[in-house]
Amino acid sequence: MQLLKDKIKTEGIVLSNNVLKVDSFLNHQMDPVLMMEMGKEFARRFQDKKITKVLTIESSGIAPGLMAALELNVPLVFARKQKSLTLTDNLFVEKVHSFTKQVTNDVTVSRKFLTAEDHVLVIDDFLANGEAAFGLARICEQAGATVAGVGIVIEKSFQPGRSKLVEAGYRVESLARIASLDNGQAQFVE
Ligand code: G4P
Repeated sequence: MQLLKDKIKTEGIVLSNNVLKVDSFLNHQMDPVLMMEMGKEFARRFQDKKITKVLTIESSGIAPGLMAALELNVPLVFARKQKSLTLTDNLFVEKVHSFTKQVTNDVTVSRKFLTAEDHVLVIDDFLANGEAAFGLARICEQAGATVAGVGIVIEKSFQPGRSKLVEAGYRVESLARIASLDNGQAQFVE
């Protein structure tokens, strides 16, 4: 998606050869026009999938997820990240480890909001190792729901997340695919 790539080129800050900072339009300040366009693009790419729900994870997945849900005319559910829980009767719970932040969270969704009839579009802001996306997919499995696809804003294609998801049988659509962050520069997959 050209608008997103332009934004990454002009405002993205390469912090190291594996971390891209995009807090001026995605992770802290958010660009609503860009979010709207991304929502339309996700909806276009998954229009044939009979999506009934968009599922993301707090916090940075919520804005693109909500815009995709608006375009698809379905609800958005965001999974919550919490420290280890004791009372989990009414929740789907999965552990998700973040390699970037070196923390493990219990990721939860109320049993009220996902059912076996759902066709779910999983959305997230970054795809690195795929931990968050797999955690959300496992929650869908617990609910008996179908994962119709995974939509990612920024994929770091040099990390293993995408190939692991594709190998597991998921359709992955990323709006920007970064081949490398070497030499302080974001290079996109052609
Ligand atoms: P994974 O889910 O693909 O395995 O990724 P990983 O555990 O490595 O990422 C953990 C967190 O770091 C996630 O945010 C993810 O979006 C973010 N992240 C990963 N790589 C980058 C990067 O290059 N740049 C930035 N800006 N973020 C990255 P989170 O902890 O869920 O944070 P938030 O959604 O609350 O902002």
